[in-house]
Amino acid sequence: MEYAFSIVIGYLLGSISFSYLIAKKIAGIDIRSHGSGNAGATNTLRVLGKGPAILVLLLDLLKGLAALGIAYLISGGDTLAYAFAGIFAIIGHNWPVFFGFRGGKGIATTIGVALGYSPTAFLIAVIVTIIVIAITRYVSLGSLVFVTLLPILLYTVAHQPMLAAFSLLIMLFAYIRHYKNILNLLRGTERKLGEKVNKNL
Ligand code: G3P
Repeated sequence: MEYAFSIVIGYLLGSISFSYLIAKKIAGIDIRSHGSGNAGATNTLRVLGKGPAILVLLLDLLKGLAALGIAYLISGGDTLAYAFAGIFAIIGHNWPVFFGFRGGKGIATTIGVALGYSPTAFLIAVIVTIIVIAITRYVSLGSLVFVTLLPILLYTVAHQPMLAAFSLLIMLFAYIRHYKNILNLLRGTERKLGEKVNKNL
């Protein structure tokens, strides 16, 4: 029963698309029709600037962490329960029931989930990701590095084989959601941090 509850609570929390809600509220726009068309923090930065983007990043991250926390509490700390909650929060973010199943790419929520899965793995992956983004200016590349490091770190550093297996799925979702970014990176046409809106729509 606690597994079903973890899945449902994770999916519903994940389905709250903060970039959509914040962009609607402050600019009256559908974020999915602007910039890269993605309902996420990076596109919010591109379209609306730093303040709204930081807010989206934090709220999307917190919903992933909250899903884990709730599952942890109701299951009495069952790893499988919070593993499910985390992965379904990301599924909800990517394919939100409240917004026509058109959501984001799941990275901010994955960061929150990673923090709940293992603070050590989270910290290492975040540091490497920040370095990659600072050097290349490609947020998408940093995102892909983050999700690739996560299962490796959960297995080797956190010694959590089950969470590492769940993270392989999370990585797969991220790669699927970033397929356009991957193509753009390979072609050299990916938009860099700070570039203007209305390209690559
Ligand atoms: O987290 C999303 C990021 O990796 C890419 O976003 O809007 O540049 O496609 P975007």
